[in-house]
Formats: sequence, C-alpha cells, structure tokens
Amino acid sequence: MSYCNIHIELLLIIGVSLLAATENPPHIIYIVADDLGWNDISWHDSSMITPNLQNIADESVILENFYVQSLCSPTRSSLMTGYYPSNIGSQHKVIDPNRPHGLPLGLTTLPEKLKETGYISYAVGKWHLGFCNKDYLPTSRGFDKFFGIYGGCHYYYNHSSSEHGTYKPGLYSGIDLHEESSNGIFKLKGAEYDGVYTSNLYRKKIAEYIAEHDPRKPMFFYVALQQTHSPVMVESEWSNLYPNVPDLVRRNYSGQVTLMDTMVGEVVNKLKEMEMYEDSLIIFHSDNGGDVKTYASNWPLRGDKGTYFEGGIKAIALIHGKGIRKTGYVNKGLFHVSDMFPTLIESVAGGQIADEQKISGSLYTKHNMTRKFNNPETCNPSKCLNFIHCNAHIYLNYVEIPAPEPNGTDIYLFNLDADPYEEVNIAASHPIIVKQLMDKLDKYRKTAWTFFPPADPACNPVNFEGFWSPGWC
Ligand SMILES: *[C@@H]1O[C@H](CO)[C@@H](O)[C@H](O)[C@H]1NC(C)=O
Ligand SMILES: *[C@@H]1O[C@H](CO)[C@@H](O)[C@H](O)[C@H]1NC(C)=O
Ligand SMILES: *[C@@H]1O[C@H](CO)[C@@H](O)[C@H](O)[C@H]1NC(C)=O
Ligand SMILES: *[C@@H]1O[C@H](CO)[C@@H](O)[C@H](O)[C@H]1NC(C)=O
Repeated sequence: MSYCNIHIELLLIIGVSLLAATENPPHIIYIVADDLGWNDISWHDSSMITPNLQNIADESVILENFYVQSLCSPTRSSLMTGYYPSNIGSQHKVIDPNRPHGLPLGLTTLPEKLKETGYISYAVGKWHLGFCNKDYLPTSRGFDKFFGIYGGCHYYYNHSSSEHGTYKPGLYSGIDLHEESSNGIFKLKGAEYDGVYTSNLYRKKIAEYIAEHDPRKPMFFYVALQQTHSPVMVESEWSNLYPNVPDLVRRNYSGQVTLMDTMVGEVVNKLKEMEMYEDSLIIFHSDNGGDVKTYASNWPLRGDKGTYFEGGIKAIALIHGKGIRKTGYVNKGLFHVSDMFPTLIESVAGGQIADEQKISGSLYTKHNMTRKFNNPETCNPSKCLNFIHCNAHIYLNYVEIPAPEPNGTDIYLFNLDADPYEEVNIAASHPIIVKQLMDKLDKYRKTAWTFFPPADPACNPVNFEGFWSPGWC
C-alpha cells in the first residue's frame, strides 16, 4: 500500500493536481505555532483576538481532527520527514541542547524534496531538530536560509536559554540566536539584537526573505513561531489588548496569541505586496497542545502538552489558498502531521517520493495509531529511552484509546464519539478491545528505535563564545 487513507483524504481537499503541467507549483507557507491551546483561537473562543487567522480560516478548510505528537521535536521530525517519530529515533521528549543528537542524518527532509521540483526554502523561528554538528543545521537539511533559534525556546529579550529550556542557575546557559545563508553561519549579537524582543526580529526577517525571493520560483517558507511558548513574556502593547483578563500571566499569554496572529497577518500582507498571495498555499497548525502551566487553554479537551489525552495531541489547524477545491468549512477527517510530507511533495509540488520512503511513510494505517509518552523520570529508564515503551495511545476506528499510565498498570479506553472529552474510562468493560489494541501496540513497539544519547558537557556554550553552537558531536 503506498498511500494511507489520510493522504487520500488530503488529496481530496487539495486539488492542485488539476494544475496545468506547465504551471509552477504554489508557494507553500507553512506556519507552526508553538504550544497554542485548543481553545486559544477565535473560532473556538470568541474572546481571543485573532482576526487575521479568522480571516484566513473563513476561506480555509479548518482541520478539526488534526493530530500531532504531544511535544515539539517529535511533531517537527514527523513534519520534516513524513515518518512516525518512533521509527526515526525521535519518539522521546524533545531534543535537548546538551545531548548529541538531532533529526537523524540521512533522512530526506521536506525542503530537500521540494528542492527537486525547484523550490527555494526559508525558515524563520525555532528549529529544535538538532545542532550539535553542522550537518544537523537547517541549511544542511535543505533550507537555503535560516534565522532563529536552534533550541526549543529562549528568553525573548536576551535570547538566552539553558540546558533545559529557559535559564536555570547551575545549568549550562548560552545565547541562542543564529542566521544561516550561503554566506555562512552567524552568531547574532550586538545592539541590533540584544534586548530586542525576538518576534520583532522575526517579523523583520520574514518580510525581508519574502521580499528577496524571486517570485518566478516556488517558495517554501517554514515560519516556526515561538508564540505561544513560555516564557510568558510579551510587550505591553499586546497584553494591554486583554484588560478584562484578570490573571496577568494569562493576559500575557493572550497577548502572545494576538502577536502571533498579527505576524500571520503580516505574512499575508507581504505575500500580497509581492503579488505572491494568489499563488500561495498557507498551512497553519500548532505543534502540540497548549501548556496549561503557562496558562494555555485546551478546554474542553482533557490533558495538555506532553500528554496524549486529546488536549495534548489535537492541534488547531487549517489549510488555505491555491488549489483548495472547496473552502469555508470544517473538515472532521482524521489527519496526522506525518501526512503533510507526502501530500505536499506529491499533490502540491508535483514531486515524487521514492518507493522506499512511501512505504516507510505508510508502514502503518495511520488512522489507527499515535503515541503517548510522559516524562522519562516517571518511567522505568531501562524501558523508556524510547517512550513508546512507556506510554502509548492507539486509535482504533477513531474511537478507543488504551494507554498505560506512567506506573504501567492503568489502561484508558475512551469512546471518543460518545465521550470526546475522555471522561469515562471504559477499559474494564471492554477487555477484548483492550487486548487487541495492546497487541497492536506491541507490534509498533517492535519497530521503534531510539536516538537519545546522554548529555555531553562538551555542549557548554562557554566553548563557543557564549552561544549554543555546533561543533561538539
Ligand atoms: C535573560 O533574562 C532572564 C529573564 O529576564 C534572566 O532570568 C536570565 O538570567 C537572563 N540571562 C542572561 C544570560 O542574561
Ligand atoms: C508579561 O511580560 C512582560 C514583558 O516581558 C514581563 O515584564 C512581565 O513580567 C510579564 N508578566 C507576567 C505576569 O508574567
Ligand atoms: C484500523 O486498522 C484496522 C485493522 O488493522 C482496519 O480494519 C481499520 O479499517 C483501521 N481503521 C481506520 C480508521 O483506518
Ligand atoms: C497508577 O497511576 C494512576 C494515576 O497516575 C493512579 O490513579 C493509580 O492508582 C496508579 N495505580 C497503581 C497500581 O499504582
């Protein structure tokens, strides 16, 4: 079987195959929000100020059953390769800046494939797919230009982050802000950058890359926003838009949402200004569910980022623009982020995927599974380097999910049709289904492999002029 059902379903939505063979494939603007909550968008909660996304959504297909992994690097690994993270060593937590790993080298990435059909590719924002060696960097993985951060997040004003995300005393800490182009790789420091809110740097750079692009060539632009990831810092012009939100952290978070929306609007305006908009396909989704600790809301879904309840793995998503046959509606078909790779290559860009990669990309009936993991600390370390051995969620005909909890004894089974908010665990009364799903999960576990080496002190930014940098693996 070379295509899974989801891919075919996306093909139905995207009618690009109808384009004349001589016509250029569309520009692809792929915008990924970071930790955006299910309820933090105007079409789910009208108190959220997201007019630009709402405008796009009104003429989009809103994908209301779009699944992702529950954390950033696994989702992005899948997006960039079309593989399930468990098959490419990415089914662990995120790629830590102190561990010598990344998206495994040798896998063909989305921009590399797009290059075969003439695309020029840009990335602005968060990479988080490895940087310990130059070979892992965005411009070594198919992008022509990159501006942003290598890790998962950083402080918005001083651009520093530590081994585990934002700054913690006692951990290695360094600046994470880089630019890559054919001229080389640059550590960004100086008055132009220091103290300047990161997203404002991105806004400028996104406009610059679009303006520089030769519109006769198809463009792939990966806009990997830091919004709405922690730290919940935002300039007051954004948080002030929410005077009625009593909690100040939530007010900042909401401001982040509106800043994100504004950035999307700016991308659209720039495309219009450059007369590229009519030829653009815009995709927008979150990389995982909202982080409730930093005041995101996934209401009414259960769970959040890092869990495989619906609130962790169901993302806000839409697809808009050139080639979409029917727009302005909500599509409830089941999608997984891994479907984007084959869809974009074959139905949008008019490229071809090697049989080997096709088969790998659809080894499993994708509707039927996605996986869960939790903090490795809560799992038996000998089993949990690849988190699929720890916790998993598996879907059968959209409705049932058993998942061992961290203590390895609890199984959850929900009927998502009848119980979309996962309130009633029906595992005990459905032992046969549970057994079927556990057997299936065991099969998937046998195909999993792991790439999660221990931390290496050679990562220390003091070795690299205070920057998180390649050169230590
Ligand atoms: C960056 O800013 C954060 C928050 O304001 C602060 O905690 C951290 O120490 C700063 N890091 C550096 C390297 O200045
Ligand atoms: C909101 O963001 C501003 C700007 O970064 C920061 O100074 C302030 O402490 C934040 N407020 C809260 C409650 O986190
Ligand atoms: C799930 O897998 C089973 C068999 O493995 C298959 O019969 C079923 O059609 C699949 N469900 C979906 C929604 O693809
Ligand atoms: C396993 O963990 C769950 C929730 O974390 C808890 O409700 C349950 O009692 C635990 N089971 C055992 C056997 O410890």
